[in-house]
Amino acid sequence: MKKLLFAAALVAALITTVSCEKDYSIKCPVEHTPTMGWSSWNTFLLDINEDVIKGQADAMVATGLADAGYKFINIDDGYQLPRDEQGNFTYNAELFPGGMRALADYIHSLGLKAGIYSDAGDNTCGSENRYPYGLGTGLWQHEEADCKLFFDEWDYDFIKVDFCGGQHAELDEKEQYTRISNAIKACEKQGIVFNICRWRYPGTWVKDLSLSWRTTYDIRPWFSRIKYIIEENRYLQAYIGDGHYNDCDMLEIGACWQGDESTYLSEIEEQTHMAYWCITSSPLLIGCNMNNIRKSSLDLMLNKDLIAMDQDCLGIGAPVVQREGDVYVVAKDMEAVMGPKRAVVVMNLSDEDRKIDLSVEALGFTGDINVYDCFTHEDRPELTCNTSFEVALPAHGSAAYFITGKRIEKSVYQGEEAYLNAFTTLEGHETACYKETESADQGAYAAVLGGNEDNWLEWKNVFSCKGGKYLVTLRYASAQDAAMTLTVNGEDVETFEGLNTGSDEGDWQTVNAYITLKKGLNSVRLGNAVSAMPNIDCMQLRRGEGK
Ligand code: GLA
Repeated sequence: MKKLLFAAALVAALITTVSCEKDYSIKCPVEHTPTMGWSSWNTFLLDINEDVIKGQADAMVATGLADAGYKFINIDDGYQLPRDEQGNFTYNAELFPGGMRALADYIHSLGLKAGIYSDAGDNTCGSENRYPYGLGTGLWQHEEADCKLFFDEWDYDFIKVDFCGGQHAELDEKEQYTRISNAIKACEKQGIVFNICRWRYPGTWVKDLSLSWRTTYDIRPWFSRIKYIIEENRYLQAYIGDGHYNDCDMLEIGACWQGDESTYLSEIEEQTHMAYWCITSSPLLIGCNMNNIRKSSLDLMLNKDLIAMDQDCLGIGAPVVQREGDVYVVAKDMEAVMGPKRAVVVMNLSDEDRKIDLSVEALGFTGDINVYDCFTHEDRPELTCNTSFEVALPAHGSAAYFITGKRIEKSVYQGEEAYLNAFTTLEGHETACYKETESADQGAYAAVLGGNEDNWLEWKNVFSCKGGKYLVTLRYASAQDAAMTLTVNGEDVETFEGLNTGSDEGDWQTVNAYITLKKGLNSVRLGNAVSAMPNIDCMQLRRGEGK
């Protein structure tokens, strides 16, 4: 309860509620929506061949998945053989007798796109402990030749680049993936989709190189893994945008682990899996055998509303807007920033049935809202209200809505939803991160900030309906003297020094400043290039209170 007190106090302190009367929305700008398709790994692992791949391409069309938007047929690990004596890349011609080019041509002939797999280092992941087929087949020291082969000669449209060999060869992620990105760009064929697979959030440089990047270790068809992936992605939402996406890994919908059907996720668990992947704008790469999908799983992957949620043209992430223990409410704007429509997913990740009261204000609305259910495809008039409504969810269950109504200007921005420029979850980096503690508003905050010019925090999406003066209140904690400069839309406003609360995550205190926001989107940055910044819990904005 303690963590809710600050938000409640902030809301109570608001003198007037600011709602956006007119639509100052920014229209959809995104160039690429998240990749939709199928990948061979989750079901077939290393047992792939030409017939399997062609059969899946046929099934993608026959099931209606292709018409629903799933287009990529991605060959994962297991098609290679060790290089020849001249170092040329070779594939397994026994398994792929028609050749890799002919296979891509076949996929293209169905109106689909073809994807391929490699590693940033020397060896591929599947080859490391099992078979030697993939040893030395990675892109390292063959970047240009292999890319030309994959894209200009074989005509593939997508590549996933793993990092097992990168770790083995002790390569630096940023340097090596940059080399590969340059080799891809140097190809005659353009528009290739580059997916980085480093199993952690590598760093903000990744968006300059690739369209999507894995953020976690491999998914499996059991709920604890789905929960792990959702939890790992909760605070990574600020890194999605401008057509670049966190990849939550391939879908386990309709899939089981190595033929053991007892490992299928339940229907309810599959709904939660799909709903979260869609609201967080993850690539949707089917992982099951498309020739044999149970009906409920196929219907779920064909769900037009969820696909629209995933493919929304804003291409943004969905931060947590309300939380009660293991029940999370995440939301994002649809179609226009601060437009009248939002996607909302409520997830009960706990092992017990739970109820939660959804706050209309926390969802970003004021006045009566209309709630549309993305699982039943019907309006839910009984949920129409202007205060709060209750959602009851079974263990591991979820609700997915489109909510429309009059938008309210957001007044509290959380540290854990901010963009941290020096953030990474790679091992061995003492840098910007998100931490959880009961005492923080909504239970989390941003930490290890400042000390160099790259290590800043920014809310890039501070929206003002009308523009004007605001009182900004920053909630911080620091065990030592810390300092930070507040910068709004690139202009320094104020530097706060001697910030010391005696503890890094208790006893949160506040400092205030007056700022001017322009109408529409603004950026608010906190930084300190020379010494440590305090930890940041959240920022509150009060309109009309500027000097
Ligand atoms: C890693 C990746 C998987 C898959 C395998 C292939 O584990 O994370 O998605 O590509 O390698 O070996």
